[in-house]
Amino acid sequence: RILAGTTSDLAGRHVVVSAGGTREPIDPVRFIGNRSSGLQGYALAKVAAARGAKVTLVAANTALPDPAGVSVVRVGSALEMREAVHAAAPAADVVVMAAAVADFRPVSAAGQKIKKTEESDTLPIELVKNPDILAELVVQRASGQVIVGFAAETDNVLEHGRAKLARKGCDLLVVNQVGENLTFGAPDNAGVILSATGSEREIPLGTKEELAAAVWDEVATLLA
Ligand code: CTP
Ligand code: CA
Repeated sequence: RILAGTTSDLAGRHVVVSAGGTREPIDPVRFIGNRSSGLQGYALAKVAAARGAKVTLVAANTALPDPAGVSVVRVGSALEMREAVHAAAPAADVVVMAAAVADFRPVSAAGQKIKKTEESDTLPIELVKNPDILAELVVQRASGQVIVGFAAETDNVLEHGRAKLARKGCDLLVVNQVGENLTFGAPDNAGVILSATGSEREIPLGTKEELAAAVWDEVATLLA
């Protein structure tokens, strides 16, 4: 079901997938970032293209080759990702937010490289909340559009996931456990696909392509 040609249930559909992790500038050479590699988002894009979809991949700071047949838009910060996702979303049947979007950014990025001083051993950096792109997508959703979120949790994965699904108002939320050696940069992933209708599908540890295929199965059902 994963390989090209085995199913084309997304033919004629336009999907937008975000991937990677945003970087929030502190000064011209430094940023606040996260451990997302982009592998899960790229797997989602690849599998969707193989199943016939027209795919726009909004990639934040990934070091991965552009998947064949996928239109890639590169972004850095959460605000750039917001712009790119909102530009592509109105024409999309499906939007999947697999990216790790920074919750906060520095209130202002310094124009020059910040220097150490003798006077102070601390450097406070004030942060401001970033817009919640997924929540904005839900508010602006076109009729029939399917919106999917991802949530990485370190603990109480299902409880946090169920609450987050309800709070965000998306159709599907894929939750998985993360930690030091779990998920980030790894070729494998496991998770649970929570649906707004209440169904919960557990995806055992497998490749990120396999998890992606399971997500598209659920999406295809919702589109049908
Ligand atoms: N997300 C987003 N914009 C943000 C933060 C998150 O679009 N500013 C999206 C992510 O891409 C993901 C989903 O929201 O699909 C859940 O992200 P997560 O960080 O788990 O949720 P938060 O609401 O930020 O909650 P938490 O406090 O647990 O980080
Ligand atoms: Ca967050």
